[in-house]
Amino acid sequence: MPTINAIILAAGEGSRMKSNTPKILQQLSDKTLLQHVIDAALPLDANLNIVIGHGAELVKNAIDNKNVNWVVQKEQLGTGHAVQQVMPDIDDDSVCLVLYGDVPFIQSTTLSALLSKAIETGFALLSVVLENPFGYGRIKRDAEGQIIAIVEQKDASKNELEINEINTGIMAVKASLLRNYINNLTPHNTQGEFYLTDIVKMANANNVNISSFICDSVVEVMGVNDKNQLAELERLVQQKQVNEFMTNGLGVKDPARFDCRGTLSFGKDCVIDINVVFEGNNELGDNVTIAPNCIIKNAKIGDNAEIKANSMIEDSTVGNHTTIGPFARLRPQSRIGNNAKIGNFVEVKKTTIGNTSKVSHLSYVGDSTIGDGVNVGAGVITCNYDGANKYQTVIKDGAFIGSNAQLIAPVTIGKNATIGAGSTITKDVPDESLALSRNKQTTLSTWKRPSKK
Ligand code: UD1
Ligand code: CA
Repeated sequence: MPTINAIILAAGEGSRMKSNTPKILQQLSDKTLLQHVIDAALPLDANLNIVIGHGAELVKNAIDNKNVNWVVQKEQLGTGHAVQQVMPDIDDDSVCLVLYGDVPFIQSTTLSALLSKAIETGFALLSVVLENPFGYGRIKRDAEGQIIAIVEQKDASKNELEINEINTGIMAVKASLLRNYINNLTPHNTQGEFYLTDIVKMANANNVNISSFICDSVVEVMGVNDKNQLAELERLVQQKQVNEFMTNGLGVKDPARFDCRGTLSFGKDCVIDINVVFEGNNELGDNVTIAPNCIIKNAKIGDNAEIKANSMIEDSTVGNHTTIGPFARLRPQSRIGNNAKIGNFVEVKKTTIGNTSKVSHLSYVGDSTIGDGVNVGAGVITCNYDGANKYQTVIKDGAFIGSNAQLIAPVTIGKNATIGAGSTITKDVPDESLALSRNKQTTLSTWKRPSKK
């Protein structure tokens, strides 16, 4: 096997995006466009050469792969000029795989097939047939079907514009062959750029046999130049993914209103209602139901759990048979036990809640450890912050916290202790006791409301 040099072109501004962010740092699903391309190249064991220019520092900082040969293209004079910048770093006996930073959904398997072809023949192009080829370079073939040139949209004649087979931009070429042509490009075209695609014409003039590999998946080779194409590709990627999930048994009420930006594993009989967004890595047990409008990020949700509408769960775990929401928010590091309940308008942060415990209405529970069988009444607040530092609240098994109590941390509520409604608790409460802190009620039967003068 020869050495493979992936050359990823990522220096362009992407002016059609009309954004302050370089185009290749726009997000598709869970990653930037460029990260998708890098991740497709990684399984090929290739050297990574990435050509950057616009927003070079931003791009470098956004990518955390080590062992990247970053090559700066100071002026963006075209895709051919971009490849020229890398050639001094490339060995003649390697094979170059040119990838475009804005063609993000290319798959490793397609790339290895293309590489095999190039190793055999020296020069292989990845093309695709599109119903609407607008914007892409067209593949020109002679009467025998031999590839003779690529013509860019802006340079194409009326007849050439009718061609439906287009250049994906992705090609694999033996380095020695690429070097022969890359330095002889001229910018004689409508855009005044050095087109990488012109090497096809030059190789053909030298009788180099250019083989093509026609990709059967349009999604894989879609280029992203503007926000319309970005959204179109996002939908296609999501659609492909949700179809795989449903094939593997996930129940989805409406696949058009389902987004997973990351990974999702699930057991049997889970049902996801509309407008649920999964982010990061999520794991669902068996028979989990998620109602509309939930955002679930890096969560592990147990068997038979029910997530009701409009809830958010982030970096947290939910036990078996537990219900969350509607309108609940689990912030990072929350661990909710089995058969528990977190009800509406409850915010939980960095808190462990035991089995069968309930926080049913309008509460804030943060930096707390709550045991099993605890009932936290409506409107209870753990006051964990003094303006400078955060403190812990501990509520032991079987405790009952009356409605609208404030627990001023650090504080511990003992086993089976009871807190009277409306109390402000500043000192630890021993096991099995009742703590109250409120004025006795005064009732005046002779009192009259003031009336208007
Ligand atoms: C290019 C191809 C076209 C193909 C299409 C596929 C050329 C001349 N045209 O057109 O045949 O159908 O991609 O999506 O190659 N870049 C640099 N430096 C530069 C210019 C561009 O690094 O000086 C990078 C861009 O960041 C981008 C990629 O190269 O990632 C492609 O550039 P772009 O301007 O989008 O080319 P297209 O017009 O789409
Ligand atoms: Ca493009």
